[in-house]
Amino acid sequence: MTTPSRAARPRPGSSPALQAWVEDIDRQARTKLGMGRVADYIPALADQDPERFGLAICTNDGQLYTAGDAEIPFSIQSLSKVLLLSLALRRHGDALWRRVGLNPSGMPFNSLMQLETEHGKPRNPFINAGAIVVADHLVGAFATPSKHLQDVARTLSGNAGLLIDRQVLASEWRHRSRNAAAAYLMKAFGNLDNEVDEVLNAYFACCALRMSCADLAVTLNYLAADGHAMTTGDRFVPPAMAQRINALMFTSGMYDAAGDFAYRVGLPAKSGVGGGIVAIVPGRFSVCAWSPALDERGNSVAAQYALELLADDLGRWSG
Ligand code: DON
Repeated sequence: MTTPSRAARPRPGSSPALQAWVEDIDRQARTKLGMGRVADYIPALADQDPERFGLAICTNDGQLYTAGDAEIPFSIQSLSKVLLLSLALRRHGDALWRRVGLNPSGMPFNSLMQLETEHGKPRNPFINAGAIVVADHLVGAFATPSKHLQDVARTLSGNAGLLIDRQVLASEWRHRSRNAAAAYLMKAFGNLDNEVDEVLNAYFACCALRMSCADLAVTLNYLAADGHAMTTGDRFVPPAMAQRINALMFTSGMYDAAGDFAYRVGLPAKSGVGGGIVAIVPGRFSVCAWSPALDERGNSVAAQYALELLADDLGRWSG
């Protein structure tokens, strides 16, 4: 048997039983279509088709199992926060934690309440305020942080065609009041080095990157593989850093639903208002599920259900 290389885009999964299972999850998750609502606070996201559902699993030995709309690109939104955090930690290490916390907020991802009482230090890097501080680090480090993030995503996914959606970026910019309020508050507390507009622009551009479930499962596979990137074979982050990012995803990746999701699924995961959720099974595989309609906390209804089904039957993936 040949061992698939970790320095290439993964090949289609070779197990018919696992492929059938992925298709079965796809079929079951589609029973949830029609529940939830597509995000419309960013108007350019409002016309997403709520009937879409995709699922992709990238195993650490370089196989890709997909079902449904797994190859359709969508707005990654807060999934970009995982890449942003990885880039900032690579660059600044633990110094980052002087400016961003490590604890769940228990609040909606765009809440401003704790920022005032906690002196402009966001609870964690996965709420909007936290990601804006992380983006501030990258504005200081790279001429065009979103271009850098796009290049990294292209390399890690093996998909050179990934693009930032200019329409979504413009829409987020026009409707930026709440994120701008968070950024100005942090600036007032001395927790933003660069100009608010510049940092917000970088943050929105990263959120506006379009990727498919397959792209995302491949890109973020380093979190399942002790930091080793699938497409390059290089170590993207050290193993301890991968573990810590997973820990943060586990405690804060699903916002104020983190506890519910941990109970029901029990995997490190990160969601975005484009409807994507990435989850990690350390040592084994990364998975991305996507469907645009969200519950009241901003997490995709069908994608959460798909991950619940997957987690209930993880034994299938051993060996
Ligand atoms: O800043 C925002 O509100 C969006 N660009 C990202 C929010 C997001 O994806 C949070 N996810 N659930």
